[in-house]
Amino acid sequence: MADQSPNNPKIPQHVAIIMDGNGRWANERGLARIRGHQHGVERVEEIIRVAPELGIKYLTLYAFSKENWQRPKDEVSFLMGLLAAYLDQKLEEMHRNNVVFNTIGEIGDLPKPIQEKIAQGKEKTKKNTGLVATFAFSYSARAEITRACRLIARKVVDGVLKPEDINEDLLSRSMYTGTLPDPDLLIRTSGEMRISNFLLWQISYAELYVTEKYWPDFTKEELVKAIEAFGGRERRFGRTSVSSKQ
Ligand code: FPP
Repeated sequence: MADQSPNNPKIPQHVAIIMDGNGRWANERGLARIRGHQHGVERVEEIIRVAPELGIKYLTLYAFSKENWQRPKDEVSFLMGLLAAYLDQKLEEMHRNNVVFNTIGEIGDLPKPIQEKIAQGKEKTKKNTGLVATFAFSYSARAEITRACRLIARKVVDGVLKPEDINEDLLSRSMYTGTLPDPDLLIRTSGEMRISNFLLWQISYAELYVTEKYWPDFTKEELVKAIEAFGGRERRFGRTSVSSKQ
């Protein structure tokens, strides 16, 4: 069991994951892409189960981007069905495991019945004290930053805020992730070296870890490898080796 102290710098408090490669995993096995998504859901379940054992306090998963709406209609429908089934089957288990279920993104873009399940899941788990599992649905970091600017501009127009009051902290609090700490570690599966419009504001000082493994193969062992890699990094936050230890 990992040292769960929030001050253990070897364990990332907040891990964000770009879950990529479901389609390629399926193609390589001669299966339809949707089979990759089905296996991907099993990894979501596993990673949420094991993250607290490893000392992770916040887990943020990129489940569906705003751009993903442009995928073929059948694939989008299948993903929405998977999501509905996941919420039906797993919210109770998350609750039993003391997980706080959270979302970021434009939840209003999702089908109404899913919006209702999400609202119920949040309400049910809001007092839990364990892992905060945040799912990004219909998420775009640029849209998130634009929305934050709009919220702040509205307050300035209404005279509640002065332009001089706008600072980085206010911007952070105006994001969907307003109550979460910034990610310490960003993992991307399936080898692509890109961020794909995920948490652009929040990952300024996150350590990046890219694995060749496709998401349906990202088991607990792979998460442990990522955490070990993180533990070996020296985080300087723009300072020098010496000044960052003072
Ligand atoms: C990327 O693989 C994955 C997605 C776009 C969706 C991620 C979804 C899941 C892991 C399952 C659904 C999650 C829940 C919580 C129900 P890709 O299709 O882009 O793969 P490719 O790059 O190999 O084509």
